[in-house]
Amino acid sequence: MKINGKPTRTIWLAADGWGVEIIDQTRLPHELVTVTLRSLDDAARAIKDMWVRGAPLIGATAAYGMALAARADSSLPALRAAYDTLHATRPTAINLKWALDAMMDSLASLSPADRLPAAYAQAAAIADEDVAICSAIGDHGLALIREIAAKKAPGETINILTHCNAGWLATVDWGTALAPIYKAFDAGLPVHVWVDETRPRNQGAALTARELSWHGVPHTVIADNTGGHLMQHKLVDLVIVGTDRTTRTGDVCNKIGTYLKALAAADNGVPFAVALPSPTIDWTVADGVAEIPIELRDEAEVTHISGKTADGNVVSVQLPPDGSAAANYAFDVTPARLVTWLITERGRCPASPEGLSTLFPEKGRS
Ligand code: MRU
Repeated sequence: MKINGKPTRTIWLAADGWGVEIIDQTRLPHELVTVTLRSLDDAARAIKDMWVRGAPLIGATAAYGMALAARADSSLPALRAAYDTLHATRPTAINLKWALDAMMDSLASLSPADRLPAAYAQAAAIADEDVAICSAIGDHGLALIREIAAKKAPGETINILTHCNAGWLATVDWGTALAPIYKAFDAGLPVHVWVDETRPRNQGAALTARELSWHGVPHTVIADNTGGHLMQHKLVDLVIVGTDRTTRTGDVCNKIGTYLKALAAADNGVPFAVALPSPTIDWTVADGVAEIPIELRDEAEVTHISGKTADGNVVSVQLPPDGSAAANYAFDVTPARLVTWLITERGRCPASPEGLSTLFPEKGRS
């Protein structure tokens, strides 16, 4: 996507050919700052501290982290240690393990001398594949938005609610949930996006609103508790979110609060779609609530909030009284029964074992 007219990805090679540049997303929306990762530890820190975030971008950054590790030491023990370091950064997004496994699969059988160029080539391939996957998700999601538009009066606004940030900032480019919205907007459809602010880290208010603004897509930021009210008043035509891990049965793990939106959507007959690249499907898991590890993050992310003051400084302030405990569960699981559609790079299907195996027959039935 473009920032001020310049095509930009979220991760790319630095001019020296080996450093890895990222956008420090903790500085958005008020500052656009890029950082060069030069070591395994840099990559691990960027993921853990959420300079980069979003399941597909976590995977791509981990892949480049393996390449940076290979630059220091391309022996198999060193690469296995790098795998473990990167794998420990964030527990929920399965794309992390998928990307690390892809890296190890392509490197393990090579001679140590061949591993370094192969690691950079494989990381670039993972990044490029993510772009192609997200673009295809955009095309399939656009078809759904067109179906919804066809049921409305010509020119009537199509209101789409999204939670967290599943846009291009969460991937290498295009995004998952936002890719269909960008394609609909570019095709001239009158879309408007309700942007859940997404407490506690405010990925909606800070990142989704930022990238929709860059692209010129009409949007409105809402407090997280607003969606149900909007749905009751027929002000939402479609909910579309991303996911960090979806089971082979169609249970969807995504940013905390997604489940409540799905409940409200089901109660109000609003279609609830989940956009997901196939590397986000965990074919080993059947019961999302019981089996998916939910990241528990620092309580300071709940007790403190940062923003820009009237004089332009970005500051952090405390919300609750001194001493109140806080709990920070980063994700929740929406059971498949509440999900209307899964949208993958291969097309759209019901959230069920049958639906997924129709699109991915090579994975077999659960
Ligand atoms: O904690 P985050 O910001 O990494 O969480 C991101 C999400 O929950 C996204 O919805 C998900 O990763 C899908 S991104 C295309």
